[in-house]
Order: sequence, then structure tokens, then C-alpha cells
Amino acid sequence: MASFGPEDLEKIGCSRWVVKHCLAVLEKALDIAARVKVNVDMDVIREAALLHDIGRCKTNGIEHAVVGAEMARELGAREEVVRAIERHIGAGIPREEAVKMGLPARNFVPVTPEEKIVAYADNLVLGSRHLTFEESIDKFRKILGDGHPAIKRYKALHEEIQSWINRW
Ligand SMILES: [Fe+2]
Repeated sequence: MASFGPEDLEKIGCSRWVVKHCLAVLEKALDIAARVKVNVDMDVIREAALLHDIGRCKTNGIEHAVVGAEMARELGAREEVVRAIERHIGAGIPREEAVKMGLPARNFVPVTPEEKIVAYADNLVLGSRHLTFEESIDKFRKILGDGHPAIKRYKALHEEIQSWINRW
């Protein structure tokens, strides 16, 4: 399949809130991608943002990233897109934490700028509502507790992407 649209999510049977969430994350990711002064593949960002939660039409557990990556692969998505889907959860989940959560024993940490932008954009959208960075940090604190390592990782992700935006 050459390119994907929201109709692909509907065809697969994703619920309306998933489709709306994915569209909001798509909008956020494209906005960030347009502002960063690093080279990014817009098509990868577009497809990965749109499909990032495709796994949620099968499961709402954290494994939706693994399930979704496999679904995207079956739909013919490129490996860059598949990897961005698999690595979008949290602000990246390292192997040791992944194992404790029942995920396969590998790193679920965004590596490329495209993967990082999709994961970051997802954190800045709650349902279909756009959040400020402060609101998104509060969401992390409420869900995971103040001292959780994910908060530090999310802050680092935020700072890295802001540095790409503020670069001369
Ligand atoms: Fe997700």
C-alpha cells in the first residue's frame, strides 16, 4: 500500500476515538516536523502518526504497540513506519522495564528523529485534545507517580526536540 488514510483505520475496525486520536497526533506531529531544523522524512512521520495506535483496535494494553507494528507491516507499511509504531509507547520504554510490563525483551525507545517526533506528539495529545508540555508532564505524574523514570525520559525527549526547533 502506497499511502494510508483514516479510512484504513476505519476499515480495520478501529473505534471512532482511536481514529480521532490518530488524526490529532498526525496534526501535532506534522506541526512539530515542520518546525524542527533537522532532516526528517515527512512521509514516515505522516504514516507513523496516523497508524501509531492501529493496535488499539485489537488491544488497549501496552502491547498495542507490538500488535500495531505487526498490523502495519501486514498492511505494507515501510520498516521505518513499523519501528516508529513499535517505539511510540511512553516516552520510550527500555528493555528491563519492557520485560516487567510483559512486553518482548527489547528496547522500545525511539531512536530516529521521526520516531521521536511521533512519540513526543502522542504525549502532547490526550484523546483528541492538544496539551501543553506542562499538562502532558502532569498526566505522566498522575499516572506513574512523581519519581518514575519515564518522566525524566519524557523531559529529555522534550528538550531534545525543542533544541531542534530552536537551532539556528
Ligand atoms: Fe499508543
